[in-house]
Amino acid sequence: MKHLLTLRDISTEEIQKILCRADSFSQGIRPKQYEDKIAANLFFEPSTRTQYSFNVAEVKLGMRVISFSPESSSLQKDESFYDTVKVIDSFGVDIIVIRHSENEYYKQLLGHVDAAILNGGDGTGDHPTQSLLDLMTIKQEFGGFEGLRCAIIGDIRHSRVAHTNFEIMSRLGMEVVTSGPDIYKEDRFKFVPFDEAVAESDIVMLLRVQHERHSDGKTNFSKDEYHASYGMNADRIKQMKQHAIIMHPAPFNRGVEIADEIVEGENSRIFKQMSNGVFVRMAVIERALEG
Ligand code: NCD
Repeated sequence: MKHLLTLRDISTEEIQKILCRADSFSQGIRPKQYEDKIAANLFFEPSTRTQYSFNVAEVKLGMRVISFSPESSSLQKDESFYDTVKVIDSFGVDIIVIRHSENEYYKQLLGHVDAAILNGGDGTGDHPTQSLLDLMTIKQEFGGFEGLRCAIIGDIRHSRVAHTNFEIMSRLGMEVVTSGPDIYKEDRFKFVPFDEAVAESDIVMLLRVQHERHSDGKTNFSKDEYHASYGMNADRIKQMKQHAIIMHPAPFNRGVEIADEIVEGENSRIFKQMSNGVFVRMAVIERALEG
């Protein structure tokens, strides 16, 4: 069983292999069917895209799927996260997809569960399948990675998407810069003014402000203020390079980090990213099951 916990564990050669496999699924290659295999999707944090695209990927691979709702589970009777996963694993499921608010939650499970663990997002740490679908979308657009410049804009500090993408994109030969409000910046990443990020990048990746991860509960600006200072709108689109694209892991907030009309506009690849998410997840599930 091959876990997928963080892309840091995976060589660039293997990442390219996963992307190729995902691409062949997107071209209509019929996947092997795993009718005797069972997937459990344990989302301890809210999720639409990741949870349901894993679900669709599992169905396309012929698997049977167990869903889980924390609100109606024995977590409400103070059962711990660890014990909840142990219970599901003891049923003999083959893969367990987990999203949890604690960074590296998976470390406590390693060596204690038989199923392959696929990380659907850990706190502010990693979001490997999101990065893979981002990479797939970039490769479709530009044919490769080397020399491309990606600007990640917004709540860098609290974004597992930013953290995972920064590492893997750099490793693949891309130049990655960050931008957005000063309070969300991280000194370990190159930070540039917003206008420069927009004008000089091939990929403009917008992020949602992660209010749920702000322990002080404070946001220093209103939605309108954020939009005025850091939102992608029709005027700013004109500053982008002609071939540049807009990406966003979503959920996006229309009128905050992105204007309503940009979401489905010509430069946006946001829904393409979501479609690619199914193919990438099929590839990582297959990898897990084939060991
Ligand atoms: C992201 C996440 O959960 O990290 N969403 C996703 O999986 N597509 C980003 C976010 O919640 O803002």
